[in-house]
Amino acid sequence: MKLFLDTAELSEIETAVGWGVIDGVTTNPSLIAKAGQDHETQVKRICGLVGNVSAECVTDKRDDLVVEGRRIAKWHPNVIVKVPLTPDGIAAGKVLASEGIRINVTLCFSVNQALLAAAIGAWCVSPFVGRLDDINEDGIRLIRDIVDAFRAGGVTTKVLSASIRHPLHVSQSALAGADIGTMPFKVLESMFKHPLTDKGLAQFAADYKKSQETRAAKS
Ligand code: E4P
Repeated sequence: MKLFLDTAELSEIETAVGWGVIDGVTTNPSLIAKAGQDHETQVKRICGLVGNVSAECVTDKRDDLVVEGRRIAKWHPNVIVKVPLTPDGIAAGKVLASEGIRINVTLCFSVNQALLAAAIGAWCVSPFVGRLDDINEDGIRLIRDIVDAFRAGGVTTKVLSASIRHPLHVSQSALAGADIGTMPFKVLESMFKHPLTDKGLAQFAADYKKSQETRAAKS
């Protein structure tokens, strides 16, 4: 599973790019608002740091979405245009995909919705794991079901596990077969953490220091 960051904060993206572990970034209007920057300017900055940057349309009618999607796609070759999983969003996505624009169909909460994204040749579909868990439904189960349905039908649209809230969502998404998992920076950072890594490191450092001291005392 490829790892994406779900953020519009440049410092977080720069840090993760420095680690060499991310293949893309997803943004949405809430994340852009949180960063306090102009949408186009910030997406272009992010595209300068990493490939595969999802930028979301904010209009809701088919024709407006087509115009907006074309405009966003021109911002940078790394851009993937996000359209909502509505009849207008899907219809606009179909037009944009037929023009060679990569589409991320967002706000997906069912297998049937994912099949609609696949039907228009979307680059990826984004099922929202955390928001399903929030309403006592099984978000990871949805990832597994969409992956199974896509495999059964030979669908090439990628499954992007979105709305990841904690490290367990990451490993569960990968085990469920998601192609991509997008997560907040703090979740990516938490993937490094294991108490036995810290304990082992402290032990190695202590043993090394002790051996150096012993050698120095003998010479
Ligand atoms: C990504 O494309 C989504 O917009 C994002 O993962 C939503 O996450 P949230 O449910 O934590 O807002």
